[in-house]
Amino acid sequence: MSDSKRVLLIVAGSIAAYKSLELIRFLGARGIAVRCVLTKSGAEFVTPLSLAALSNDKVYTHLFSLTDESEMGHIQLSRSADLVVVAPATADILAKMRAGIADDLATTALLATDKPVMVAPAMNVRMWEHKATQDNIRVLTERGIMMIGPDEGPMACNEFGMGRMAEPAYIAEAIEDFFGAHQRLKGKRALVTSGPTYEAIDPVRYIANHSSGKQGHAVARALAAAGAETILVSGPTQLPNPAGVTVRNVKSADEMLAACQAEQSLDIVVCAAAVADWKIKNASTQKMKKNGKGLPDLELAENPDILATLSRANKRAPLIIGFAAETEKVVEQAIEKRKAKGCDWIVANDVSPGTGTFGGDANTVHVIDGAGVENWPRLDKDEVARRLTLRIADHFKKAEV
Ligand code: CTP
Repeated sequence: MSDSKRVLLIVAGSIAAYKSLELIRFLGARGIAVRCVLTKSGAEFVTPLSLAALSNDKVYTHLFSLTDESEMGHIQLSRSADLVVVAPATADILAKMRAGIADDLATTALLATDKPVMVAPAMNVRMWEHKATQDNIRVLTERGIMMIGPDEGPMACNEFGMGRMAEPAYIAEAIEDFFGAHQRLKGKRALVTSGPTYEAIDPVRYIANHSSGKQGHAVARALAAAGAETILVSGPTQLPNPAGVTVRNVKSADEMLAACQAEQSLDIVVCAAAVADWKIKNASTQKMKKNGKGLPDLELAENPDILATLSRANKRAPLIIGFAAETEKVVEQAIEKRKAKGCDWIVANDVSPGTGTFGGDANTVHVIDGAGVENWPRLDKDEVARRLTLRIADHFKKAEV
């Protein structure tokens, strides 16, 4: 990593603040310079002296410090780095970021910065799950703020659940990835399917499902960020095209299959689309009218199975990954699905009403391959995509050895 990369690390007031000390060490070992801003409540958990010693730099704490301002104004401070990282990010600082409140040095720097911002949330599970926090996370994500974690696990407050700050090593990896250090999948070609398919009944009506395409688009974005040449074949969604990805828009399952089969020399295929299982065999070319003679006689036909077709093709990609949306016996059914479709890995998720998976921003998945089942904690869909990308890169690395 070039030593020119600089991070402005904002340490807010959470018990996880002690982990930020380790984060500074990890970043330093990777040649990334860190300058710290410590909030008043952050200073209840770690001292400015520890941060200064590890970062080898002055630690900034006060908005109205005459010495600080004369050396470096808060506006300049907010722009003195290539990336601003808030770790730990408390529910309070996330709420302030969303609202644009600037009542101390940390929040003023966050409002004044013109640099990308990454946050590693850390809080009690109830605070994380509170509608206010989830709403803040949604808005901040939409504004392009990158979320790392949180993880699920035991908490300092003796509860268990989502809200633990991601491990420092993992945050350091995410920061390195952001700086493009790894490009772990450079030279690989990836195809991702995403979104629902629309199956025409007539020119104005169709059968569809509630898939938002969020998970598939996130996977395409993560693969491209890791350096893979990525093609996204997407059914109709409301999502913007992910950066650095070639997008082929399709409507029906037949069109999706044709667009996938048109791509050659693929190394990785990820089928995340919620393909409609059925289409209308006798779709009308004209708008169907109510003619008083009863209900239309719609005949269904099965759609091609894109994942199974690509998995069974003669010149198949060496790594094909499917998703399995289930509402009961999630892992058992996914194990069967992996065999039935002939793909290499299946990422199984519970899409029962109440899980909020369909259309939501988070996903709890189980990754199944020939060796067994890995249960991942509930994660943001971008985080699922990043971890899946890391697993894919590891797979190719092991295959090369
Ligand atoms: N899939 C596909 N083409 C289809 C149906 C599914 O490529 N016609 C892919 C999906 O993209 C996903 C996997 O197959 O990667 C499993 O999809 P899912 O909807 O869970 O399963 P289905 O095969 O539709 O089976 P069922 O609805 O009976 O559970």
